[in-house]
Amino acid sequence: MLNSCCDVVNIASGKVRTLYLELVGTTSQQSKVVVCRQEDTAFISFNFWLGSIMHISKQKVPTMQNFDFYNPTHIIFGQQRLNELDKLIPCDAKVMVLYGGGSVKRNGALNQVLEGLGSRKVVEFSGIEPNPQFTTLMRAVDKVQSEDIDFLLAVGGGSVMDGTKFIALASKIEENHESLLFRGFVSPTQHSALPLGCVATLPATGSEMNMSSVVTYQDQKYPVMSPLTYPKFSFLDPTFTQTLPQEQIANGIADAFVHVVEQYITYPVNAKVQDRIAEGVLQTLIEEGPTTYANNDDIEARENFMWSATMALNGVIGSGVPQDWATHMIGHELTAMYGIAHGRTLAIVLPYLLRERKKQKRAKLLQFAERVWQITEGSDDEKIDQAIDRTEAFFNSLDIVTKLSHYNIDNDGIKTVVQNMEKMGLTALSETRDLGLDTVSRILRSAR
Ligand code: NZQ
Ligand code: ZN
Repeated sequence: MLNSCCDVVNIASGKVRTLYLELVGTTSQQSKVVVCRQEDTAFISFNFWLGSIMHISKQKVPTMQNFDFYNPTHIIFGQQRLNELDKLIPCDAKVMVLYGGGSVKRNGALNQVLEGLGSRKVVEFSGIEPNPQFTTLMRAVDKVQSEDIDFLLAVGGGSVMDGTKFIALASKIEENHESLLFRGFVSPTQHSALPLGCVATLPATGSEMNMSSVVTYQDQKYPVMSPLTYPKFSFLDPTFTQTLPQEQIANGIADAFVHVVEQYITYPVNAKVQDRIAEGVLQTLIEEGPTTYANNDDIEARENFMWSATMALNGVIGSGVPQDWATHMIGHELTAMYGIAHGRTLAIVLPYLLRERKKQKRAKLLQFAERVWQITEGSDDEKIDQAIDRTEAFFNSLDIVTKLSHYNIDNDGIKTVVQNMEKMGLTALSETRDLGLDTVSRILRSAR
């Protein structure tokens, strides 16, 4: 019955109409919620049981959801602009400059930042590691509090920016800082955070223009979201990315690509602007990603890649549309357990998740095939299969291996991943919350 056509009587008009059925969720074992698209593209939904129609009700077409769009981050894009720091941070601010393991010393970003800060009092905090650890961040919080810091400046990749956001929140509370980690996607109730700015050196996470962070605590990754942690400003200078090892460029391309997909390949809600921007970002990543990967000196490609990564997760394309994030939830577990870089985990999971969820995501997968990969030949099924294969081949072309066996993860390893997800309460994933742990297990086994 699924994804097939059938004739039903339209109760309102009495006319027989051909409907295209697409399963979007299950309410119980017997009753399935189905979205039906009529030939004339109007939508109704009804329940059916054992193939027979039990009830037809006219319901609202899935359309764009209500949304608030709020993004106060000032972007300063382009080369050699760090002297403009002076007008962005109060003159009398005592600033903590936070960075990671030293890449920002090698690419000159730190020096330019220190010069840009002029005569302000500056305290440095280094050593924020990839997948920032709660314990490291808490050392920074102690320092912020004892030094009476009033502005945080993150210089680095997603880990440094995320870590700084957490520090901004945690510095304003006196105890029980762990509690910030256990709220899922719900913001903490506190009313203030230290102001922060970013100098982004790795295009990937979009952290430079969003309110999210991800913190590792006792070998698990926890999202922390708060509108208080939107950076006041972020500098995006593509020349700082020239010192990135090739593999980090590849990770960043994969991460940004999957950010778009998680917000775009769900089910249609007629969000034309969001869809077309998402498609533009994906096409830009497909065009400019490999050039950036292959050529360190192509600054124009890097500019486009950098802005794509920011646009992929700054709230624009996700406004008013259903969002998935299952690939990320599974990927985070692979990073936490096996230390695989974030972008690489996503490139492993995504192609197999899309194959597994072909029915649920059918309409958007077809749109992805036709508009992003420009596939015009073949049946709808063939177009969808090709689009998923080309996505996987795209990751492979960046030397990203999309197989778990490459990391020696066997079926026992997969079982542990699934058990950990259960412990974390990650049991109902996807845009329709009907992707359970059995499906996670199937996806990972097919990615073996
Ligand atoms: O520590 P340093 O020396 O700076 O080296 C870093 C690090 O080893 C290096 N690097 C960064 N910029 C460089 C550079 N090396 C040379 N030249 C440069 N210009 O790259 C390594 C990886 O850095 P990291 O910041 O960990 O990478 P990425 O930006 O991919 O961030 C990954 C983190 O972001 C989280 C991930 O879970 C992970 O913890 N995410 C954050 C999101 C958000 N805030 O919205 C969403 C993402 O989906 C993601 O979950
Ligand atoms: Zn990501």
